[in-house]
Amino acid sequence: MADDLNDVTDDDEVSESSEALIAVHWTDEGYYPPPPSFVAQANASDPAIREQFTEDKFPDSFTAYADLLTWFKRWDTVLDTSNAPFWKWFVGGELNASYNCVDRHLADKANKAAIIWVPEPESEAHQAITYRELYVRVNEFAAVLKSLGLKAGDRITFHMPMVPELPVAMLAAARLGIVHSQVFAGFSGTAAGHRIADSGSTVLVTIDGYYRSGELLDHKVKADEAVEAAAKEGQPVDKVLVFRRYPGQYSAKTPMVEGRDVFVDDLLAEHKAELVEPAHLQATDPLFLMYTSGTTGRPKGCQHSIGGYLSYVAGTSKYYQDIHPDDTYWCLADIGWITGHSYIVYGPLALGTTSVIYEGTPNYPDAARPWRIAVQLGVNIFHTSPTSIRMLRKVGPDEPAKYDYHFKHMTTVGEPIEPEVWRWYYESVGKGEAVIVDTWWQTETGGFLGSTLPGIDPAKPGSCGPAALGILPAILDEDGNEVPAGSGKAGNIVIRNPWPGVFQTIWGQPERFVSTYYAKYNKNPESKDWHDWPYFAGDGATQAADGYFRILGRVDDVINVAGHRLGTKELESVALTVNEVAEAAAVPVVDDVRGRVVEMYVSLKPGFTPSPEIEAKVRDAIVKDIGKIARPKNIWIVPDMPKTRSGKIMRRVIAATSNFTDTGDITTLANPEIVEKIRQQVQSAKHAKGEVPRELSETELNEIKSFGAE
Ligand code: WTA
Repeated sequence: MADDLNDVTDDDEVSESSEALIAVHWTDEGYYPPPPSFVAQANASDPAIREQFTEDKFPDSFTAYADLLTWFKRWDTVLDTSNAPFWKWFVGGELNASYNCVDRHLADKANKAAIIWVPEPESEAHQAITYRELYVRVNEFAAVLKSLGLKAGDRITFHMPMVPELPVAMLAAARLGIVHSQVFAGFSGTAAGHRIADSGSTVLVTIDGYYRSGELLDHKVKADEAVEAAAKEGQPVDKVLVFRRYPGQYSAKTPMVEGRDVFVDDLLAEHKAELVEPAHLQATDPLFLMYTSGTTGRPKGCQHSIGGYLSYVAGTSKYYQDIHPDDTYWCLADIGWITGHSYIVYGPLALGTTSVIYEGTPNYPDAARPWRIAVQLGVNIFHTSPTSIRMLRKVGPDEPAKYDYHFKHMTTVGEPIEPEVWRWYYESVGKGEAVIVDTWWQTETGGFLGSTLPGIDPAKPGSCGPAALGILPAILDEDGNEVPAGSGKAGNIVIRNPWPGVFQTIWGQPERFVSTYYAKYNKNPESKDWHDWPYFAGDGATQAADGYFRILGRVDDVINVAGHRLGTKELESVALTVNEVAEAAAVPVVDDVRGRVVEMYVSLKPGFTPSPEIEAKVRDAIVKDIGKIARPKNIWIVPDMPKTRSGKIMRRVIAATSNFTDTGDITTLANPEIVEKIRQQVQSAKHAKGEVPRELSETELNEIKSFGAE
């Protein structure tokens, strides 16, 4: 892209996305067909299932997913496109997500475990919560929420770790139609506060503490920071509901605030065995908000619907996770992310299976913990991210073989997985017995968009596979021309049609919803025809001749750290709050475990000299405002940033410096001489620390080369 894009506004995400049109050589990794024993039991084993989801059957094909749910009232219209691209699914239908995930299973599964919770300390026994018990707990907590005056349409924020109280709280909110917004517990209190303010929540639900890597963390302190941050943005929080990790005993050091903070176990005692009718809600009513990063400093509250979302996660859990009621399913993601919402809570529970929830870090106290849990609970479906797989492989490559568990099915999600890592997952973790699905999707999409159907399609390491049932993707170049399959060329992956799991809007920012996801390839903003509104996913991709997609990563200014999206603008705007800092730029650095990590470059205002104290200030500001997950690997205080003549920081040049790759053409820079200075400064420091990366793959090189466009 040219210099004339320098004056794009912060909101103009589409124009800032970079060219993904780079030739990518396809290395075929070979196919891994499902074993006959898997096919024999699979929910989808007949290729004819694809016939039910072809384009000519759209959108009615998706009623097969909606029919997996219990509806109080059936819908009148499957898909309403009258307010394009704000799609409405199953219009006129009435249902309740809590009823579908809990009540309806009481008839035949009351005494079956809905959730098995595994505390991090191995000395604490796991807790199996039956559907009956879940029903009681959800009702009691719903009674608490109701007694606070909360009602359908209100928003509530949860800042909860991986404890069973979190799904209980989600399902209690869903029971009443209260829109929940769960913020990842690893995010800072301030980050939670921004999201409270954005969503307009008046109640925050938290916990006193939880275990992470052997330490009982004080989590309550973050609630105080959250309330303060929300207040600064004009949003009062009236009540903070504090669960206790050990009921009756307070595990935090931070004092409770009189009149505002209440222990949930005390409140629950007032509502013992109380029942709350599940509200009859519209399919198009919102179920929850899930915040994610974009290319501006303000996170996006992705709003998901009740009917469309729940149908989509139930359908994809059935066919892609191959969940049967008798399975013991363990998704080692965090419920604070979309993966946990869709594939720990809503999808598996809608199908009435047993979903395992683990409190702590995967390798605590050692690299064999997941395999011991698998043996103890009889886990047969396992779901995790490339980052966890890389880490478990690094710290305990031979551990899985020592434990007598047997997975039939495994998932990888959230980042591209290197074929070599895929093969370790297959051979060592799966013992060559389990199918693998590499599922490509996003916070915005509710559920899987690209994946093999595990009982039908062979897996191919490094590729997510074909489109999910009923999803019609295409790869487009910058002008909207289709890049043909098998051409070896990359482009922007789009989804041509709406699907039930797609988010409804960005909370409070409908214009940004349209401009970010739909404006790029829409030719007629007045059109009510879905064919005119391809969904722009923001990922680069290639499609092989066999129809399998390979996802190359983000084409916008988002860095995927350990499978979590961090916006460069978000990071940079925090760095700029440090008084001494004049300019800041965040770039990705390839990392063998976390996929990518962040490095931050800052230049100082006149009169200040670089010092470790300023570095620490920048680092602390990021940890305080966003969370530890965003902590930069390095902060480089440089004399100046490489810039275009119109003053835009050239992130691709500093990204190349951090990754020891070729900086490319720098002759058009306003200050080309700075590039060599920065290179010497950064690379000699990295050499001294032993931080020279391995040789990068072609995909990685392409990402660095085009990072941030220009
Ligand atoms: C990336 C996570 C390669 C992609 C569910 C996407 C993937 C972003 C895959 C969404 C995959 C997700 N292979 N890349 N299987 N799955 N991604 O919103 O860049 O946290 O746009 O949702 O992760 O991240 P999000």
